[in-house]
Amino acid sequence: MKISIFVFLFFLISCSGDNESFKQAKVFVGNQKVPAHVLNLGKQVYLEYCMACHGREGDGNGPAAKGSIPAPRNFKQGLYKFGLVADGELPTDEDFKRIIKHGLSGTAMLKWDISDDQTYAVTQYIKTFAPQVWEVKDGSVGKPVELEEDPFTIARKESAIAKGKEVYHMLANCQTCHKAYISKDELSLLNEKYNGEPLDEFDEDLYQPKLQVSEYYFYDSEERMMKFLPPDFTWHKIRSASSVEDIAYRLAAGVTGTGMPAWKETIADHEIWAVSYYVKYLMDMRGKEERKKVLFK
Ligand code: HEC
Ligand code: HEC
Repeated sequence: MKISIFVFLFFLISCSGDNESFKQAKVFVGNQKVPAHVLNLGKQVYLEYCMACHGREGDGNGPAAKGSIPAPRNFKQGLYKFGLVADGELPTDEDFKRIIKHGLSGTAMLKWDISDDQTYAVTQYIKTFAPQVWEVKDGSVGKPVELEEDPFTIARKESAIAKGKEVYHMLANCQTCHKAYISKDELSLLNEKYNGEPLDEFDEDLYQPKLQVSEYYFYDSEERMMKFLPPDFTWHKIRSASSVEDIAYRLAAGVTGTGMPAWKETIADHEIWAVSYYVKYLMDMRGKEERKKVLFK
């Protein structure tokens, strides 16, 4: 009797979910060989924790995905936002681990308390949804972005913020997509300092984030592209960064496929650090009265 219950249970378990399992190893870019048992563990983790949003087929259309803004990633596209690698390159396993273990704050993508083995396995399983990028012979993942050491450190935080404010509004013009956090008078003075003349005209949407088209398509149509709103740092949660250092590396790498550029090479490393202190200063105003100091119309 006991045995037949056992057999029955076993039968139930092996019928639940689809029972196709990997029989063979896969080789991903960078000549990374992943044995079948790892892929099978990855699939099991995926079905348990990730499928509800990312979908059984990996297309981002799971039952819990409805109405989620942003939508869960469609893994079939093989495009990822938050690697810390040169813009547009494939993320490393380290990147996936950080994303899965830290989550993306302010989105439905929570942090997952799963073991390192499970994290590694599910990462490999996710790759199987996009063979066109991962199973390419001679392909490789991106090289992690590098930055010179923080030249300011906490000791010179105030001067970093002051410098960062100028980098933000003049050198990098972050407000062309995000918004400005200084008055028109101050912006005009800065322009005089940098370009020799005051400003008499201002963009109408200077103080609003501007929706940007992206390279991410919706699960049901490869023609319909998603649009993303650049965050207002004093209002929205920042997905992949909380410390100055996190922000600096994020700026260096950009947010792949969203219009948020990779700033490495475009501006100097010390300028990336300065603007990161400034962004952190703005982020720390979230939910506080002092936010009003940087709100203009
Ligand atoms: C409750 C819904 C939900 C669940 C469950 C979920 N995710 Fe996500 N996931 C999201 C959303 C939403 C995004 C997109 C965030 C964005 O675009 O900023 C995302 C994005 C991702 C990304 C892409 C990151 C990038 O750089 O583009 C990865 C990888 C990922 N999830 C892995 C997982 C794994 C692994 C699991 C299971 C352990 C999981 N997710 C479970 C909602 C979810
Ligand atoms: C061409 C448009 C554009 C420009 C210019 C731009 N950004 Fe962005 N930025 C975006 C978009 C779009 C997003 C949102 C991406 C998403 O939905 O995940 C973003 C996101 C971010 C994030 C959040 C990343 C996260 O983890 O959530 C930070 C920080 C950021 N930008 C800082 C900057 C700074 C600082 C500058 C100037 C040095 C700048 N951006 C210039 C479009 C831009």
